[in-house]
Amino acid sequence: MKALVTGSNGFIGSHLAEALARRGDEVFCLVRKTSRTDSLAGLNVRFVVGDGRDKESLRPAVRGMDVVFHLAGVINAVDWPTYFEANTQGTQNLIEACLEENPQLQKFVFVSSISALGPSPCGKALREEDECRPVSDYGRSKLMAEKIVLGLADRLPVTIIRPSNIIGPRQKELFESIKLLAKRIKPLIGTGEPQTSLAGVDDLVRAFTLAADSPKSRGQIYIVTDGQAYAWRDITEAVAEALGPRRLYLKVPYPVQYALAAVAELGARFRKTPPLLTRSNIRATREYCWIYDGSKIERELGFKPELDMKETVRRTVEWYRKAGMIK
Ligand SMILES: NC(=O)c1ccc[n+]([C@@H]2O[C@H](COP(=O)([O-])OP(=O)(O)OC[C@H]3O[C@@H](n4cnc5c(N)ncnc54)[C@H](OP(=O)(O)O)[C@@H]3O)[C@@H](O)[C@H]2O)c1
Repeated sequence: MKALVTGSNGFIGSHLAEALARRGDEVFCLVRKTSRTDSLAGLNVRFVVGDGRDKESLRPAVRGMDVVFHLAGVINAVDWPTYFEANTQGTQNLIEACLEENPQLQKFVFVSSISALGPSPCGKALREEDECRPVSDYGRSKLMAEKIVLGLADRLPVTIIRPSNIIGPRQKELFESIKLLAKRIKPLIGTGEPQTSLAGVDDLVRAFTLAADSPKSRGQIYIVTDGQAYAWRDITEAVAEALGPRRLYLKVPYPVQYALAAVAELGARFRKTPPLLTRSNIRATREYCWIYDGSKIERELGFKPELDMKETVRRTVEWYRKAGMIK
């Protein structure tokens, strides 16, 4: 199978490219001229240069592909135009390029997010058919992209995946916590109650391939989780445990985290780079729950999540240690 992966050099895209290459697919990795590609080093993949914001650059990339996995997007940006251009316009450009250059495409898998659906009531898992009420610009830009994709479902076989929070080696948001904890700074995240669904990156990649391979997934939306709900503090504790024996930490309360995020956003505006921490991220962990029911993909496509949260956190910390990025 010839597969194009957009966002291929990112956290999830690089795991997908590796898994596809391992199973013998011909993998084409869409990257930008400016993209760092170390995450794809040594893989049996080919590179194609394109930018989601430039439709003409996407035309040659989609020609002759059997499947397109569309992961390119921005999760943290300083303003709405950046979310809109990357997540909404980028998706529209890519799917239109597919329709115009490759109408025989077997599957267009669009990677959206549970942020398009919005937060859940605490203690109740949301499903695919629940009303979408995004609370962030990120979520709104993904929901608009979903509508564009679904609007073309009669002309192209499309499937939408809504991953919950994903953990695994190279995950950036978890790395921010790992760096802080490695410096003995512990942000007191969340309320202490179960507030979020999670999925492991390897599980998510299996969900993508199931969606790509199955004709049943046409026109469908699937949430991917491991079926559990976690307290943010359990995840922080798992990181602390993976870093080593019990240590003393400087505990950082919510208002300080919020102020630091404001500073990070200001710095990002000056540097014109994506902020690693935003006030919206901080509020998301305090004010809302993000709990979802992932049983539809299990029922319809036979997906079986295998995440072991503590073990995945341990492997992630180990990966950052081996890469020399933490001590
Ligand atoms: N991580 C999660 O927990 C999570 C959860 C739910 C959904 N998702 C979704 O999954 C997808 C992948 O997430 P990730 O965590 O792997 O993100 P990531 O590591 O930040 O990677 C984002 C990728 O998108 C590319 N990209 C951004 N703007 C682009 C553009 N205009 N044209 C072409 N490529 C562009 C980036 O390329 P450059 O290197 O050139 O910037 C990078 O390869 C995203 O769509 C995200 O919304 C992620």
